[in-house]
Amino acid sequence: MSRSGEFLEVINLSKHFKGLRAVDDVTFSVGNGEFLGIIGPNGAGKTTLFNLITGFLKPTSGEIHFVGRDITGMKPHERVKLGIARTFQVTKPFKKLTVMENVIIAALIARKQGKIKEDEKNFAAEVLEKVGLLHRKDMAAENLPHGEVKKLEIARALATKPELLLLDEPFSGLTGEEVASLQEVIKSIHEDGITVILIEHVLKACMALSERIIVLNYGKIIADGTPEEVCMDKQVIEAYLGRRGLEFASG
Ligand SMILES: Nc1ncnc2c1ncn2[C@@H]1O[C@H](COP(=O)(O)OP(=O)(O)O)[C@@H](O)[C@H]1O
Ligand SMILES: [Mg+2]
Repeated sequence: MSRSGEFLEVINLSKHFKGLRAVDDVTFSVGNGEFLGIIGPNGAGKTTLFNLITGFLKPTSGEIHFVGRDITGMKPHERVKLGIARTFQVTKPFKKLTVMENVIIAALIARKQGKIKEDEKNFAAEVLEKVGLLHRKDMAAENLPHGEVKKLEIARALATKPELLLLDEPFSGLTGEEVASLQEVIKSIHEDGITVILIEHVLKACMALSERIIVLNYGKIIADGTPEEVCMDKQVIEAYLGRRGLEFASG
């Protein structure tokens, strides 16, 4: 697992909304193949950071480099072409379309093609198999249980063939069983060689999956280390984890 720092580099990145410093001079890098967790209280700037990395928001200042290229000024679809994909905290599949149609459309949009070929169906089937949704392929997306909607969102991101996958709270609102199942899916995506950045409040899953965790608070990085290190960090315990941190640290 490379930690060259040349895969994704976030350099002195800031995003201000009027007077509010949602992301405040954040610098970090992610190595190719790494699994990075991002945690922190509500409003800490986690989703804003994803919006900056994916190009949905323009930074107030700072730069983002991906595989050695400055992508700070690029549009979201240009970044998708380079291999950056994301899921949203609030899921938004096409409700009336089937599970498979949702995946095919994501692939077509990414590739800017106009019509569905058999080969697209095979590709979509592979992606659905990967996230454990192949048995649901003909169901309308609106009829999926919540846990499977989260998997569909990941399938749609995978359909763009990403090298970097950004997941915004994929475990939120899931039952214990759904969390366990999705955790396996995400682990296996990372094992395929995709670099993953995971924003998550479900700490057990985040700690189990992440090799390294960054903690954001009021737009700033207050800790960056292994799950064990951040759990025992005094500032992190005070700002976010409370007693939970000590529980995780002691296993
Ligand atoms: N488009 C926006 N306009 C104004 N304020 C925003 C906008 N997006 C986020 N914020 C504010 O920025 C801060 C960080 O939000 P967000 O990145 O969503 O936090 P998190 O994902 O860590 O909960 C919050 O105070 C939020 O209200
Ligand atoms: Mg958020």
